[in-house]
Amino acid sequence: MEVIVLKDYEEMSKKAAEIVEETVLANEHAVLGLATGSTPVGLYENLIEGNQANRVSYKNVKTINLDEYLGLSKDHSQSYHVFMYEQFFKHIDIQLENTFIPNGTAEVPEEECARFEKLIDEKGPVNLQILGIGTNGHIAFNEPGTDPNSVTQVVELNESTREDNARFFENSEDVPTHAISLGLKTILKGEKIVLLASGKSKAEAVQRLLSKEVSIDFPASFLWNHSNVTLLIDEDAYSAVRAANAR
Ligand code: F6R
Repeated sequence: MEVIVLKDYEEMSKKAAEIVEETVLANEHAVLGLATGSTPVGLYENLIEGNQANRVSYKNVKTINLDEYLGLSKDHSQSYHVFMYEQFFKHIDIQLENTFIPNGTAEVPEEECARFEKLIDEKGPVNLQILGIGTNGHIAFNEPGTDPNSVTQVVELNESTREDNARFFENSEDVPTHAISLGLKTILKGEKIVLLASGKSKAEAVQRLLSKEVSIDFPASFLWNHSNVTLLIDEDAYSAVRAANAR
């Protein structure tokens, strides 16, 4: 795992955008694995700027998202479909039919999971996977205890994850209890993985990740089993490690 510590959120976002742009410039048909949440918003802003300045085109790029809340329709304001459209897709020259996000309102969610896993195999491999990390070490919605051999499945969100994500919803009880999430095995099939972490709230998770102990209790630790992972973090997210090193 390559660890790159950047000054702040802006620098982290710029560096992440550089890596994505390099990938797309090297392969105009690149398949990008994308995340939602607060962390990648700055990355998307930088990519939008690069696209609008005609530096990089997404005309032939495919994107595959990590997850979607179960029960939220594609046009629900807090769905990851709307998030991706508003934060990224509507601003760039990507073809919407080349963007793939699990359907949170599929009649039979288990069938949707199987369809999505197959789709990843058909469209993939994912050349570059972008990840955020939960305060509890989740990646996508693979909560602590998730089988490292898991593929796309219906998952139950931890109470702490629902609390973390309540900021996006009017009432905390509106946060869905379940999601469709790529599994750990699915994520690790990506050729290159970039994990982003920013802010003091992620400092403990980053410290635990960098302890290198691989444990089912801390899903992100399975990234140590992958040979091409870059961790891009800002000083705040690195602060617990820095403080421990100084002791
Ligand atoms: C989002 C996702 C989640 C987030 C994580 C961090 O698609 O899969 O794992 O990356 O919950 O969220 P933020 O960035 O909001 O702190």
